[in-house]
Amino acid sequence: MITTQGISSSLSAQRELPIGLFDSGVGGMTVLRAMREQLPNESFLYLGDTARMPYGTKGVDTVKRYALEAAAKLVERGIKLLVIACNTATAAALPDVQAAFSDIDVVGVVEPGAEAACRATKSGYIAVIATSGTIRGRAYERAILRRMPEARISALACPLFVSMVEDGLLEGPLAEGLAARYLDQIFHDPREQGLEVPDTLVLACTHFPLLRNAIAHVVGEGVTLVDSASNTARDVRRLLQEKHLARGAGPDVGMPLCPGSVRFLTTDDVPRFTRMGELFLGIPIAPCTVELVTL
Ligand code: DGL
Repeated sequence: MITTQGISSSLSAQRELPIGLFDSGVGGMTVLRAMREQLPNESFLYLGDTARMPYGTKGVDTVKRYALEAAAKLVERGIKLLVIACNTATAAALPDVQAAFSDIDVVGVVEPGAEAACRATKSGYIAVIATSGTIRGRAYERAILRRMPEARISALACPLFVSMVEDGLLEGPLAEGLAARYLDQIFHDPREQGLEVPDTLVLACTHFPLLRNAIAHVVGEGVTLVDSASNTARDVRRLLQEKHLARGAGPDVGMPLCPGSVRFLTTDDVPRFTRMGELFLGIPIAPCTVELVTL
């Protein structure tokens, strides 16, 4: 028999577990960064599957398998909620991961990104840029149209943005040149012809927020750039509160909490993961917090 006291003590134990996040690499740290800001009391366990990145160029069945393996590793370590902090993996595998790990809530980044876009647009004309895998699966289009059936959407794969960010090329003529090569067909060229252009651009890939300045320069004024990170963090905060799983939301309300910790798992090259991770996370990563794992 499970007593009320038993349930509440298991809830307390669960509340202390970290939030798990995974991405193909370090890009998902743009989501982790927003989560740390909005959930300062929580601990996080972040897995970057750097050995098999990029996911964006792989087939959907491969990405599903990778996502299930990454999720299993985090669940095995003990987490209270899972965030798929990768657009490609969310687009390919969210329902499969939810079905496989039904004991915990699994949150993806596509719905929060689509919601941010629908809130930002005034004209209803939205552009979505992402990896080839995300664009091919049309998950963003479906999520936007579910909220706003009258929306018009231009979706474009920009795979080279990922390599550019991985090489630390975030600004300057090369970044802007590549952004123009991809985006002029949606923004510059129609404008020249007096045609309407989208008023909102969704950066539907974990890496793209780091190119925000170069992209903003190319698309010009009057276009709002949105991404999933802060909406995902907000959704997770709400979910934890609803489930009484937020640290500081139980009998310990009012008790001083230590700021949450962050630990990392990576499948390849710890020094590179640490170096690149700092760029995405915006804070130093202590090498002792990074562990090499196999999936
Ligand atoms: N994390 C991926 C995404 O958000 C980008 C990198 C990759 O292709 O693996 O789609």
